Amino acid sequence: MKIDGVPYRTIWVNEDGRSVEIIDQTALPHVFRTVTLKTLEDAAAAIRDMLVRGAPLIGATAAYGICLAMRDDPSDDALDAACRTLAATRPTAVTLRWALDEMRGALRNRARDERVAAAYARAAEICDEDVAISEAIGEHGLALIREIAAAKPPGEPVNVLTHCNAGWLATVDWGTATAPIYKAFNAGLPVHVWVDETRPRNQGASLTAYELGHHGVGHAVIADNVGGHLMQHGMVDLCIVGTDRTTATGDVANKIGTYLKALAAHDNGVPFYVALPSTTIDWTLADGVAEIPIEQRSGDEVSRIAGRTDAGDIATVTITPAGSPVANYAFDVTPARLVTGLITERGVAEASREGLARLFPERAGEGA
Ligand code: MRU
Repeated sequence: MKIDGVPYRTIWVNEDGRSVEIIDQTALPHVFRTVTLKTLEDAAAAIRDMLVRGAPLIGATAAYGICLAMRDDPSDDALDAACRTLAATRPTAVTLRWALDEMRGALRNRARDERVAAAYARAAEICDEDVAISEAIGEHGLALIREIAAAKPPGEPVNVLTHCNAGWLATVDWGTATAPIYKAFNAGLPVHVWVDETRPRNQGASLTAYELGHHGVGHAVIADNVGGHLMQHGMVDLCIVGTDRTTATGDVANKIGTYLKALAAHDNGVPFYVALPSTTIDWTLADGVAEIPIEQRSGDEVSRIAGRTDAGDIATVTITPAGSPVANYAFDVTPARLVTGLITERGVAEASREGLARLFPERAGEGA
C-alpha cells in the first residue's frame, strides 16, 4: 500500500542484504519512521514493544528474527534459543508459533553454512505468501461487499465496522479485515468504514484511520462504545474484524472488545465476519474461551495515553487516579456461534469444525 504515493510493505530486507527494516507503528499516526533491526533481540523487542503488531506481521518479523540470530550463530542451540526468545514475546498470536515452526522446518536439515541463506529465503517466502493470502481474502470479502451493495439503493455506501487494526499495517500488505474494503474501494464500490478507536492502545484510531485515510477510503473513528448504537439504527451493514488465533471449531480470539461487537451484531442481525489467513488457525484447539491464552499487558497502556498537543509535540499523560489498580487484558474470544463466516484465502467458511474442514481438508482432524 502507499504512504504519500510511495508503495511500502511493512517489513523488508535492506540493501545490505542483512538488516531488516520495519515501520515503527508506535509513532503513527503522528510520525512515519522506520527502524532497523540488526539482531535477534532487536526483532524480539520490536514485537514485544509493539513497533510491529498484528498476527501476520508478528509472524513475519519473527521469521526475520531467526535470520538475524543465524547470522550470529547458526548452531542448533542458537536456533532453539532464538525460537524460545521470539515465542515468548506475544502469547496469543498463533502465527508467531507457526512462523517459528516454518523456520525450524526450513533450517533443521541444513548444513550450518547454508542456514543464513536458507533462513532469508524462507522469511521472504513467508512475506510473499502473506501478501498473496491477504489479496485472496480481499477477493472473497469483496464478493460479500458486492452482494450487500447490490441490495442497497444505488450509490449508498456499504457501511463496514471494524475493530483494532487488521489492516495492511498488521500484515505484510493489504491487511485481512481491510483487504475486502480496499478491493471494494478500488473497484469503485461506495464503501464507508466505522473505525473503533480500540482502547487501550488505540490501534483503530491511530493505525486503521491512518491507513484508510492514506488510501482515500471514507471512514469515521468512533469511541469503542458506539458500535451497538449504530447497529440498532441500521447504520452498519456488516462487521469485518481480524483474528490472532482461531480454533478448529471457529472460535475467534481478537483484540479486546471484539466479543462485545459480535454480541451487538448478533442482537441486531448484522453479519459479523472474521477475515483470517489459515496461518492463524490453531488446529489443536476446540474451545477458544477455555484454551486460548490471553495476553495481559502493562497497566500503563490503560492508565496513560499518548497524543499530539496543539503545539505539535507528542505527549503522554496519565488519565487515572494515582494508585488506582489497572487490569489490561489484550484479547477476548468470540464464540463461533456469533460469527457469520470466516473469510479465508480459500473462500468463506462457516465458523464451525465442519466449515473449516471443508476448506482445509488436509488439516482437519489434527487436534480432534
Ligand atoms: O495487539 P495487536 O495490535 O497485535 O492486535 C492485533 C489484532 O487484534 C488484529 O485484529 C489481529 O492481529 C488481526 S491482524 C490481521
